[in-house]
Amino acid sequence: MRSTTRFTRSPIHFSVVRYSFFVGSPKLRKTEVLVNTCISAVQHLRLLRGGAQSHLLRASDGACYVTKFQNNPQHVRVLANEMLATNLGLALGLPMPRVEVIEVSDWLIEHTEGLRIKLGGSKIPCRSGKQLGSLYVGCESPGMSFDYLPGELLQSVVNIGDFARALVLDKWTCNSDGRQAIFCRKTLRSQRHYATFIDQVYCFNASEWTFPDYPLRGVYANNCVYEGVMGWEAFEPALSRAEEMDTHAIWRCAADIPEEWYEGDRDGLNRLVEALHHRRGAIRKLITEFRRSSRNPFPNWRESPADSAMPLAASDRSLEAQRL
Ligand SMILES: Nc1ncnc2c1ncn2[C@@H]1O[C@H](COP(=O)(O)OP(=O)(O)OP(=O)(O)O)[C@@H](O)[C@H]1O
Ligand SMILES: [Mg+2]
Repeated sequence: MRSTTRFTRSPIHFSVVRYSFFVGSPKLRKTEVLVNTCISAVQHLRLLRGGAQSHLLRASDGACYVTKFQNNPQHVRVLANEMLATNLGLALGLPMPRVEVIEVSDWLIEHTEGLRIKLGGSKIPCRSGKQLGSLYVGCESPGMSFDYLPGELLQSVVNIGDFARALVLDKWTCNSDGRQAIFCRKTLRSQRHYATFIDQVYCFNASEWTFPDYPLRGVYANNCVYEGVMGWEAFEPALSRAEEMDTHAIWRCAADIPEEWYEGDRDGLNRLVEALHHRRGAIRKLITEFRRSSRNPFPNWRESPADSAMPLAASDRSLEAQRL
């Protein structure tokens, strides 16, 4: 049953965030101060499915957010991963829901029975403070959005070409889960769906922040989304954007991550950003390993002389060096 608790106090939170720890990154100087406008949760709508036990919350800006809590059963760092990888994906031009820091008050948690997390046999309150909100895709009416589509409908997804472009992000960030999408249609009669990519929490190998690359990691479960891939142009403009992204731009994607989401491990975040910067040059190779895998995902690929020259030894030193 839908919870109707509403938080009626002043909804907008303003907080001043100092990013002096980014000294060394070209983006921010020691004295620089950013002002961050936070949204806050005003109403609990429902629990969502899935291992992170996300909750759908309405926020002070009027929008609904799929909210992952710091004390989710997976790991606190999955919040940092979702924010960083989604911001990278948006920078590459991928269709992804905007992510925000959403403040959840003690008051809302105390007054909302549903805001609980199941751990083992018991239920604990969701943690208050800064949580991760992913803008809810689609409308609330039933039958308008789907986690999975059968093959025939999948093949007619309006933006099916975006699956190849999403591969750029998933290989770059070593998404150690399958690629997940949500499919929405405009009307109940429509048979055409639009894919939006969600759930980036297993990028950077979940809480590990390592890059154990494997050809079949981070790919979509059904090959049909890749059938139109005939060459490198299918990955553009995402591929060039990733390859050209400098440290400055990568830091910008990480700048809003609250410190508590990565346990104050500033060195770890520094290493993660550096590793991403180095790994840009490995993306084509990682995609090639998937292309040449037993799944044969791109049957229509037109081989070019540059492709056959691409080295694929598992012991490739450049990749090894880029692992954390
Ligand atoms: N931005 C969003 N808009 C609409 N629905 C969403 C959004 N993000 C997640 N969902 C819904 O919530 C479900 C759980 O989300 P998500 O996959 O991110 O969490 P999870 O805990 O990792 O789940 P799982 O372990 O099943 O992968 C999704 O299957 C989807 O139905
Ligand atoms: Mg998921």
